[in-house]
Amino acid sequence: MKKSFGKVIAIVLTGMLLLLGVPACTGGGSSASSSAASSAASSAASSSASASAEKTYKVGISMPTKSLQRWNQDGSNMEEMFKAAGYKVDLQYAEDDVPTQINQIENMIAGGCDVLVIAAINGESLTEVLEKAKEKSIPVIAYDRLIMDTDAVSYYATFDNWMVGMFQGQYIVDQLDLKNAKGPFNIEFFTGDPPDNNIKFFYGGAMEILQPYLDNGTLVCPSGQIEMLTVATEKWKTENAQARMENLISSQSYGPTKTQLHAVMCSNDSTAQGVTNALVDAGFTADNFPVITGQDCDIVSCKNMKAGLQAMSVFKDTRTLAAQVVKMTTQILNGQTVDVNDTKTYDNGTGIIPTFLCEPLSFTVDDMQTLIDIGYYTPEQLK
Ligand code: BGC
Repeated sequence: MKKSFGKVIAIVLTGMLLLLGVPACTGGGSSASSSAASSAASSAASSSASASAEKTYKVGISMPTKSLQRWNQDGSNMEEMFKAAGYKVDLQYAEDDVPTQINQIENMIAGGCDVLVIAAINGESLTEVLEKAKEKSIPVIAYDRLIMDTDAVSYYATFDNWMVGMFQGQYIVDQLDLKNAKGPFNIEFFTGDPPDNNIKFFYGGAMEILQPYLDNGTLVCPSGQIEMLTVATEKWKTENAQARMENLISSQSYGPTKTQLHAVMCSNDSTAQGVTNALVDAGFTADNFPVITGQDCDIVSCKNMKAGLQAMSVFKDTRTLAAQVVKMTTQILNGQTVDVNDTKTYDNGTGIIPTFLCEPLSFTVDDMQTLIDIGYYTPEQLK
């Protein structure tokens, strides 16, 4: 209870700042402090005003797909916040098709966008098109996913993705009491789309926590499928994760009365949902369900958590990231110092990209009310 209360306070503070038009991401895993918040408030307010006084800037927002709940939220949050700050917005979704995304970005460049905010489908496929942005001196912010192999990227804004993975690993350690229990416990692994640079962080963070238990035999992966690329899920698709889980169920004879499966480390909710579907079809119920991790607090996964069919998710408040990007954009256009909190970690192959990391939170069924209290979901959405 105490933990949840703390989460509400932290997020409500964020919400209040957002209402004031003030980004409130927190750095380095620490909580938002009110003094930091109020200085962010004044700087954001003044920069926004001077940006819009001189010229109406146009921002091109390129999102990967509408098929996942979060990108719809990211896109509409940014559109709303940019418009409220006086920008024109060109928001495009590329339906997970790389040529479509490239084409949309080309049109944004030709259409006079002053800044590009891009969540890449394939982080390695935008080098050429971003050369064109560079030629026109259009600043590029990599949104959520780092864009690789191009020096056209000015800044990166994301959540602390290594921490996301660590939360998932730690949840499994705590739930199975791996520090004390002898095991062995059976586990399988699912991560996301290989061209998404984030999977190295999600998977890496989780493995940092789980690897010692695989090494000492407390955790066992019966399929032997552990390597990141072996456990990847093309395009993060639920159906791809479901198909792989179905294969694992038959090849390893997993079932409530057969080989026990104690945990499935899934890097996000769309993969967790596929795993859950396959396990439910195989006869697992809430009473004997493996510990399944996730990320995003998708509505479907929140409902699964309430039904005992997913153990945890990681909450990344997309409103917070959107607000931070609006703030950074305004600072770039005003020639001000841009608010970053990591200048060491994110090398995209051409050097370090200055980054702002927002703080993720580990959520379980006990935190569902928090999502309602902070206005992220209505009670009806989670019914
Ligand atoms: C994002 C996750 C999301 C996944 C699938 C990742 O890059 O960080 O929040 O679940 O993509 O879209």
